[in-house]
Amino acid sequence: MRPPRIVTFAGSIRTGSFSAALAALAARELALMECEPVLLSLADYPMPIYDGDLEAEEGVPEAARKLRDQLARADGVFLVTPEYNAGLPPLLKNAIDWASRAKGEGDPFKGPVYAIGSTSPGGLGGYRASMSLRQTLALGLNSLVLAEQVMVAGAAGAFDSDGGFKDGRALERLRAVLTTLIEQAALRAGLRA
Ligand SMILES: Cc1cc2nc3c(=O)[nH]c(=O)nc-3n(C[C@H](O)[C@H](O)[C@H](O)COP(=O)(O)O)c2cc1C
Repeated sequence: MRPPRIVTFAGSIRTGSFSAALAALAARELALMECEPVLLSLADYPMPIYDGDLEAEEGVPEAARKLRDQLARADGVFLVTPEYNAGLPPLLKNAIDWASRAKGEGDPFKGPVYAIGSTSPGGLGGYRASMSLRQTLALGLNSLVLAEQVMVAGAAGAFDSDGGFKDGRALERLRAVLTTLIEQAALRAGLRA
C-alpha cells in the first residue's frame, strides 16, 4: 500500500516569509510520518493575474496546469496563508483561481483533503485569512477541509534559527493537525493509514 501523498505550500514567496517557514516546518514533520511529503513554492508556478479575456485568448497558463496536477495527485494538502487586509493574499487567491480553471486528470480540490495553516506577525495568527481560505475551498470548490487548523501568531518570534517552533505546544498542535490530515487523506484515498 503506498503512503498518502501530502502536498504543502504557502501563499507567500517573500524572502523570510513566515508562511513559507510554517510550510517548510510542516514538510519536515511530515517526513517523519507515514506519508510522502511534497513541498512546493508558488515561485515555481508564476502566473499572470486571472483575466477572462486572457484565458479565452491564450488558455490556462502552463504553471496553473502544473500546480493543478500537483494538487490532483495529492491525497492531502496543507496550505498555509498569510493575511492581507483581513483576507487572502492575491498570490494565493490567483493561484487557486487559475488552478480551478485548468482541466486534467483527477480533481485538485475535491480529490485531496485540505488542512489550513496561517501565520501573522500580529496577535490573531492570520485567523481572518484562514476563514477566507476555508470559504474559498469549502464553499467555492467543494473541498473537504479539516476543522483542525494551525495558526501562528507573533510569527516574527515564533521560529528558532533551525526553522523549528520555539514553543513546544505549537509543535504539538502542528503534529496533531498533520496526523489527522494523513489519516483522513489515507481514508479518502482508500489507503491504509
Ligand atoms: C497588503 C498587506 C496587508 C496586510 N494586512 C494584514 C492583516 O490584515 N492582518 C495581519 O495580521 N497582517 C497583515 N499584513 C502583514 C503580514 O501579515 C506580514 O507582511 C507577513 O509577514 C506576510 O506573510 P509572509 O511572512 O508569509 O510573507 C499585511 C501585509 C501586507 C503587505
